[in-house]
Parts: sequence; structure tokens; C-alpha cells
Amino acid sequence: MSESVPTEPLRLWGGRFEGGPADALAALSASVHFDWRLASYDLMGSRAHARVLNKAGLLDDDELAKMLAALDDLDNACRDGSFTPTVADEDVHTALERGLIERLGPLGGKLRAGRSRNDQVATDLRLFMRAHVRLLVQRLAELETALVDVADRHKDVAAPGMTHMQHAQPVLFAHHLLAHVQAFARDVERLYDWDARAAVSPLGAGALAGSSLPLDPVTTARELGFASSAANSIDAVSDRDFAAEFAFCAALIGVHLSRLGEEIVLWTTREFRWIELDDAFATGSSIMPQKKNPDVAELARGKSGRLVGNLTAILTMLKGLPLAYDRDLQEDKEPVFDSLDTLLVLLPAVTGMIATMRVDADRIASLAPEGYALATDVAEDLVRRGVPFREAHEAVGRLVAWCAAHNCDLTDVDDSALREISAHLTPEVRAVLSVRGALAARSARGGTAPERVGEQIAELRSRVAGHVEWSRAGSPAQ
Ligand code: ARG
Repeated sequence: MSESVPTEPLRLWGGRFEGGPADALAALSASVHFDWRLASYDLMGSRAHARVLNKAGLLDDDELAKMLAALDDLDNACRDGSFTPTVADEDVHTALERGLIERLGPLGGKLRAGRSRNDQVATDLRLFMRAHVRLLVQRLAELETALVDVADRHKDVAAPGMTHMQHAQPVLFAHHLLAHVQAFARDVERLYDWDARAAVSPLGAGALAGSSLPLDPVTTARELGFASSAANSIDAVSDRDFAAEFAFCAALIGVHLSRLGEEIVLWTTREFRWIELDDAFATGSSIMPQKKNPDVAELARGKSGRLVGNLTAILTMLKGLPLAYDRDLQEDKEPVFDSLDTLLVLLPAVTGMIATMRVDADRIASLAPEGYALATDVAEDLVRRGVPFREAHEAVGRLVAWCAAHNCDLTDVDDSALREISAHLTPEVRAVLSVRGALAARSARGGTAPERVGEQIAELRSRVAGHVEWSRAGSPAQ
């Protein structure tokens, strides 16, 4: 941002004021250092507004042509950096009006008719977010693909399934990885829902009551790729649900990344040794030469804190805020930008870490039956033979206690010991004491049977293809 202060700073509200604002107020009030990134969206709205003014007979055709040319020129100047805001520009709208007046003289001052920064800023932020959510979905789809690929490459690897972080029942390692993909797929589809609700144009609401000029908000909305224009001008300038809802979507993505990150941290430990991270996605220690640290996974865990914080900031700012526009609403942007920026830098790193990690399939599979993980299968086998589950649970519980006392596995108990532990435990129960059998038996929809997991991979691949397509279709306003 340029530090040069023009001799007479342009303000959008000077008329009734004597003298300029106090430096302390100007410093507090300024938002241009963060809302400048809305510039191209503000100009998009300006083009649409210029056309509507022309239709309303408030700009003649010649003026419209000059206005559109100047807006294009200003857009290019913003993009190539030859036009930048100064410290005297309060916000992006002020800076761009200055740029327009520099190009057009008094004609530049006509564009503001029927429009307020209140409807403008709400429109700009929606446009910006709708475009960037597409980018976010692209990054999410890449992560989904990386996880599905790892699952696909290790489709047959059994793993200990855990509850309470204790061995519970064997599952396919792929089934576990795909559970994370299911969460990210919901995140993407939640953003579709968000987009549908965000596709409402506030333009035309003016400060809060609409305009007495014969504008056409429906046409403006359509030109900007919105599905409709706001049904209530007060709501149009007061509503920041789209910011809060996006912050929630981002926070939940953060929480999902954090849960994945925590597992990666665990899986890389000496105690687990399930995976090894590629050198490119691990870091060393400045003192301990042997260390290889999972910083990407830890940052995924850590950054969820700020994502939840951004949601809290927006909700807290909105709570108790009277209708319609209040300056508090200016605080909507930084948390939204931060959540977006955080995810756009975090997701590629997590994706890279997942795509390049080495999975120790033999070690994971060797741990699958440990911790008496097949006990439930024995109990369910007894149920199939007509034993009430309550009794079956009790009998197998005693079997586990016996094994623990004799320091052996379920498979090591001989026939007579089985019979001694419980009359229900006939030698046939041994038939279910295999990890493969336990996996194959869970063949209902949603189960970990290899067949079902294969179908799940195919289902997710086609869902992810839809995600990529949605993100590539681009925001309607792009
Ligand atoms: N910078 C302001 C914001 O982000 C723009 C709207 C200012 N409106 C006003 N009435 N002061 O909310």
C-alpha cells in the first residue's frame, strides 16, 4: 500500500463535517488495509450498478460507455498494482471512488447514486466468498483424492479398530481412512448448501431502505451471478449469516483436519509405527539429530483453534447487534479472510503429507487381532447358536480373563479349558477366530467387509469427481 497522502483526502461523507477526522479515529476506522482484496468484486458490482443507472435514465449511453471503460481501466490498474490505496482512503469503496474520479472527473461521482457502502460491502463480501469457496473445494477434493488413493493402495490391510483408544474390533485400514473422507465430503457438500444461501444480492438495499430511484435489483443480481436479490432491504444490509455460516464450515473443516492430524501424530510414534512421513513433509529437531517430527499434522491440529476462534469472533460480534447496518459489521471480514487463508495454506500441506506417507501394512495387520479383538465375534457366534447375548457376553468375558491370566491368545485355549470356562464354548467357536473372517462377516452396508469397502471407494471417487466439477464450474460471477 502506498504511503503517499493526497493533499485533499477524498471522503465519502465530508459535507456536514467541519475539518477532517481525528488521526485516532481515522486509524481506528480504516479498513482498507484488509478490505482492499475486495477491490475487483467492488468493481464488478459497480459495472452492474452503472448499467442499472443507465436503464433508469440516470446515466446516458455515452456516460455509461465512459463509466464502464474507466471501471475496466481501474480494474486493470488495481490488478497490475499501478493503482493502490493510500493511508488516507478509509476503505476499498473510498479508494475506488477516488480512482474513478481521477479518471472521469465529476462523472465519476454519478455512480454512487442509489447505492450505499452498506449494500455494497455486503455484496462485495458475498462475491468474494462465493469465488473463493470454489478454490477451497478444489483443495478439499485434492485431499479427499489423496486419502482415497492411500485407502485403495492398501485395500486389504487389516488394522486394529479402536474405541476409547483401546483395541476394539478389527477393521480394514482403508475403512478407517475412508471415514475421514466421508467427513471431508460432507464439508464440501456443506459448502454447496452455504453457496446456495449466500447467492442473494444485497445491492439495491442502499443504506437500509432501498432507493427512491428507479433501480432494478433483480437485473443487477442476475448480472452478478446471484440467484435472487434480497427480499428485505433491512435484512440485506444487516445479515452476516453468510459470514458466520462460512466460518462454521471452515471451523468444522479445521476440526476434521485436526482429528486426522492427531491420528497421523499417533501413527508416526515409535509406539505405533504404522506410517512414516516423507522427508519433504516432516521436520527435524535443532538439538536432537535423530528426530523426525510430524509438524504438518500438528499444525493441522493447532490451526483448528484459530478457525474455531474466527467463528466465535463473528458470532460474538453479531450477538445483540441492532438492525440495520452498524459499524461493528466491519469486523466480519478479517475472520472470514483468515479462515479462508488458513485453510488454503493448510490443505495442500496435509494433502502432500498424506499422498507421500509410507504405510507399514505388515505392522498394522499384525496388530489387528491383538487385544482380544475377536471376542465380539465369538459372542456373536454363540448368539447365532441361540445363546442369549447377555450369557454369551459373560462367557466370552470369562474367556478373555482366562487368557489374560494365562498370558495367551483366544486361539491358544484348548477344548477342555474352553468347556471349563463355559458350557457354551464348544470347539466350533474357533471357526470365527480369524481376522479375515471377522472382516468378511461385516458385510452389511457401511461395514468393513472388503467388498463393501471396495464399493465405498468407488462411491467416494464419483462423489469427489462431482466436487471437482463443482469447483471448476467457477463462481457465477467469475
Ligand atoms: N468499511 C465498512 C464495512 O466494512 C463499509 C461500510 C461502511 N458503512 C458506513 N455506513 N460507515 O462495513
